[in-house]
Amino acid sequence: MSILDVLDTDDFEQLTLVRDPESGIRSAVAVHDTTMGPSLGGVRMRAYPTHDDAVRDALALARAMTVKSALAGLDLGGGKSVIDAEPTASNKARFLPVHARHIASLGGRYVPGADMGTDASDMEVLAKHVPVVSSRRAPSPFTARGVFRAVGATLEWAGERDLAGRRVAVQGLGKVGRALVTLLRRAGASVVVADVDDARVREARDTAGAVPVGADEILTADVDVLCPCAAGGVLTADVLAGLRARAVVSGANNPLATPGQAALLRERGVVYVPDFVANAGGVIACEAEVHGSDDGVDTKIEAIGVTAVEILDAAAARGTDTLTVAEEIARERLAARAAARPAFPAVP
Ligand code: NAI
Repeated sequence: MSILDVLDTDDFEQLTLVRDPESGIRSAVAVHDTTMGPSLGGVRMRAYPTHDDAVRDALALARAMTVKSALAGLDLGGGKSVIDAEPTASNKARFLPVHARHIASLGGRYVPGADMGTDASDMEVLAKHVPVVSSRRAPSPFTARGVFRAVGATLEWAGERDLAGRRVAVQGLGKVGRALVTLLRRAGASVVVADVDDARVREARDTAGAVPVGADEILTADVDVLCPCAAGGVLTADVLAGLRARAVVSGANNPLATPGQAALLRERGVVYVPDFVANAGGVIACEAEVHGSDDGVDTKIEAIGVTAVEILDAAAARGTDTLTVAEEIARERLAARAAARPAFPAVP
């Protein structure tokens, strides 16, 4: 499908591309939907195989942000931007000011945040040109809290009283996974962990009482809940064949190697909470930054559990998988809001 076909098929509001010979930047900002509010999403900085890949990634990620924010009940739409370059210091020095001016030219329709290849210090650079910027504080503790809430709600939905004594596997002990381990251990869960970085595994074992397993064993560990918190695409057909977890609640974005695997999980009786539901704590924190107040953050993170249960119930009632149902519910919420008020702001 051509990029223009993607814009039509997925109802994109806006895609802007910048190619600036002076700096050498090649970048894109995708604004998928502003029905709920200004589009918010990270600035991804990465050298893509082709520039076409970069633009397609921005489009797919922006669309996912619309669904994530709608399901989290936020007054935010979905957007994302990419700078097609290695995230080196010299590239950042040349490209970030140009990218900031590109974002500023959109008049508030896109609010940037940190993503793969960018961090809070890069947001400070953007903030010199862009009035509203998110991720100036780390979103990961909020993301971990949301995943934790989704794990608890999923177990309750499956008939467990609480987390005490339940077994949870956490793949990846980075910013999200490590904080999640602490929350799970405090709630009395027994936690098995793996990371390709041995020092992180030792630290989680020694300070949180997590039990290390091999990086090649974690995804098929014999647990109640599996929480991928490393890279996306880890739930391949091979992993699904050996999966022993009763539920998958992912901190990592896009853990399924293909979307069709949500149906396979359902067929196998594995409860699957979509990543964009479970890991919405970060964007909830970003919304609070945009509004300049943390009022309501705790309630919205608690609501991640409610939304997870709503999706599990609806999938059971509609006889379909949770990924399909989650997207349907997001579309229903967007349609209801669109009917209630005009999009923000109208394109001049
Ligand atoms: P991070 O980069 O801090 O941590 C990732 C960890 O995974 C690292 O410790 C790395 O060594 C480990 N890892 C990589 N490959 C592995 C493998 N094959 N087996 C075991 N461990 C492996 O990343 P962060 O921020 O913790 O994010 C984790 C995931 O959650 C990513 O997919 C990210 O896109 C997603 N996410 C993060 C949010 C946040 O607030 N940081 C928000 C929403 C999603």
